[in-house]
Amino acid sequence: MEKTFLMVKPDGVQRQLVGEIISRFERKGFQLVGGKLMNVSSELAGEHYAEHKERPFFNDLVEFITSGPVFAMVWQGENVISTSRKMMGVTNPKEATPGTIRGDFGLTVRKNIIHGSDSPESAVREIGLFFSEQELQDYSKLI
Ligand code: CMP
Repeated sequence: MEKTFLMVKPDGVQRQLVGEIISRFERKGFQLVGGKLMNVSSELAGEHYAEHKERPFFNDLVEFITSGPVFAMVWQGENVISTSRKMMGVTNPKEATPGTIRGDFGLTVRKNIIHGSDSPESAVREIGLFFSEQELQDYSKLI
């Protein structure tokens, strides 16, 4: 079953949107496989956003993601990577369609509420950065 990494960013946690966001993915039919409220260290932020290292906004990005607790999650389901990105909306909330998470709640490209893996490769990498195997549920083992 396909898995993805989703993270409610510090602005989403502060604005008490965690429940709303979890509810959207649950209602869609995806399964929550792992989740935790945590602080992101500068080291983890640097690894997570490694592909943006040369961008002018990199330091700003690291400063923001380490500024307060995030809610890190792993979700599974058919086409969860691409569908969850559609549900999130485009990166810049000003351009995000109403009905999407960023379109409904986001304010700026920095405070855009949620991060989601953009490919199967980044999903594997990001899940591995934030979660150990023991923290993830295997629903196929339930009777
Ligand atoms: P995210 O999906 O977490 O992946 C990279 C992040 O970089 C993106 O969401 C935005 O929050 C952030 N980002 C992109 N462009 C800018 C920018 N111009 N200034 C600040 N942050 C940005």
